[in-house]
Amino acid sequence: MILVTGANGNLGSETIQKLRQKNPGLPVAGFVRSEEKGAGLKKLGVEIRIGDYLDVDSVKKVLHGVDTLLLISSSTLEKRVEQHKNVIDAAGQSGVQHIFYTSMLRAEKLLSPLNPDHYETEKLLKASGIPFTIHRHTFYTEFFPAILGNAAETGQWHFPGAGKAMNFAYRKEMAEALAINLAESSKHQNKTFEITSAKAFTFQEYARMVGEACGKTISYKDLTVDEYINQLKEAGLPAHVVELGEVSAKTIVNGALDFTSGDLEMVLGRKPKSTADFIKEYFS
Ligand SMILES: NC(=O)c1ccc[n+]([C@@H]2O[C@H](COP(=O)([O-])OP(=O)(O)OC[C@H]3O[C@@H](n4cnc5c(N)ncnc54)[C@H](OP(=O)(O)O)[C@@H]3O)[C@@H](O)[C@H]2O)c1
Repeated sequence: MILVTGANGNLGSETIQKLRQKNPGLPVAGFVRSEEKGAGLKKLGVEIRIGDYLDVDSVKKVLHGVDTLLLISSSTLEKRVEQHKNVIDAAGQSGVQHIFYTSMLRAEKLLSPLNPDHYETEKLLKASGIPFTIHRHTFYTEFFPAILGNAAETGQWHFPGAGKAMNFAYRKEMAEALAINLAESSKHQNKTFEITSAKAFTFQEYARMVGEACGKTISYKDLTVDEYINQLKEAGLPAHVVELGEVSAKTIVNGALDFTSGDLEMVLGRKPKSTADFIKEYFS
């Protein structure tokens, strides 16, 4: 039995779908936080197990009979390492034989404020003695429009970049790669995959692509992180949006996404979709 956590989330639900498409008959269950959140998957015939990373007893029950676990990193940032530790510890006690974890690109370099939680989790996973596979994800291509903001309308794109390039990869293809490796887990024991598309581009390059796609000039202005945060605050955006903006901006200016690897292409057996193609499609 393969159990996927975060099963109602974007990545979890997509991974379950791909797993079932490619491997009919393979037993796959989804870990969700409530009956309501699992209702959609249940309708599709997926077994639903209910728990919360912060409720250790619920996690132990959920892991009963599970051989392979996909631990999708929590979207709740508070006590994130504790949440992941609860799952890894419970997996050890429940006889789980292999844990997959979704981490972040080059987590050990600690270039992004998001990296420490992932790196700590990777260390816990390795110390658990349970065979593991880590998929380190770059930012989702689906997140690109949020970084672009209203630049396509105004022709002005103000965002901290510090000249660094950024790689994005499709969440759908990340899910497909997880499904492929989960179905052949024994081949991937104790391996780490850096999941990116083939190229990283700078803001200037993305601005040119967006401009070509929507038929106008997009001029890019580099901001410091502080200037950007002040701009978000002055626009009256809610605190959690400002926080997300700060984390994203620091990730980019520190060069955390300025990296590419062939791992996603190797797992998929084809070239991953490029962000250039996403931009063309998005504006067509
Ligand atoms: N690479 C990127 O660009 C990027 C962007 C955003 C997030 N991420 C990370 O990648 C993960 C997957 O992305 P996604 O798009 O699938 O995120 P998502 O749609 O927000 O899904 C996150 C899942 O985590 C579950 N979760 C949160 N706290 C939990 C807890 N205490 N116990 C059990 N489950 C809990 C959520 O359950 P509920 O629905 O009940 O909240 C949801 O099912 C995220 O969780 C985040 O760590 C990566």
